[in-house]
Amino acid sequence: MTIIINGKSYEAESGERLIDVARINHAHIGYFCGGNGICQTCYVTVKKGSELLSPISDSEKALLSDTLIKEGTRMACLTTVEKPGTIEIVSTVEQVKEMFEKNPLQLPGYAGKMGWEALVKFPDTMQLQSTRSFDLWQLLSDIIGGIGSALQLVVDALQPACPAKAECKIIGHIDSANTHSQLSEATEPRAKQGAQA
Ligand code: FES
Repeated sequence: MTIIINGKSYEAESGERLIDVARINHAHIGYFCGGNGICQTCYVTVKKGSELLSPISDSEKALLSDTLIKEGTRMACLTTVEKPGTIEIVSTVEQVKEMFEKNPLQLPGYAGKMGWEALVKFPDTMQLQSTRSFDLWQLLSDIIGGIGSALQLVVDALQPACPAKAECKIIGHIDSANTHSQLSEATEPRAKQGAQA
C-alpha cells in the first residue's frame, strides 16, 4: 500500500505504525519519546484514507481533544496501517515548518490553539499516563533513538547547503549507521504495541 507523508510517497506494510513508516523513510515527523505515546510530537493530519487506518484507540482519545480528532488528527505512534489503498498524511511539525516559512504571523495563533487543545485534555492525559508502566531503560533507549533520528533529519537537511561536502558525507554516514540500528528496534513488535494498552 502507498502512504504519502508530507507530499512524498512511500510503501508501507499492513500493521506498520505510521511513525515507523515515517522514521524508516526519514520523513519529517516528531517522535522525541521514541514512539512511546508520551511526547505528543507525532501528531499528523490525515488528508486521505482515514478509513484504511486503525480505529482511534482509547489512548488516543485520552490524548487528543475532540476538536483535533474532528480535524483528522492522529498520533503516528498509536496508529497503524490496516487496509490496502492510498493514505495521505501531513505531520504537525511539517505544518509548523511551512507556516514559519510562508506566514510566521500565524504561528502565535496556532501555538495558542494547540496549547488550549492540550490543556483541555490535561486531566485525561495525566490519568492515562499514571496508569501506564514503562521499562525505563527501554524508554531511555527509545528516546535516544528518537533524538538520533531527529539529528539525521537535520543532517539530511543540511547536506545540500554544506560547503565541505566530504565532511558532510562522513557525518551523515556515521549518523545513518547509528540510526539504522535504532530503527531496527523501533520496528520490533514491542514498539508496534507501543502505548496502545
Ligand atoms: S507520543 Fe511521542 S512519538 Fe508519539
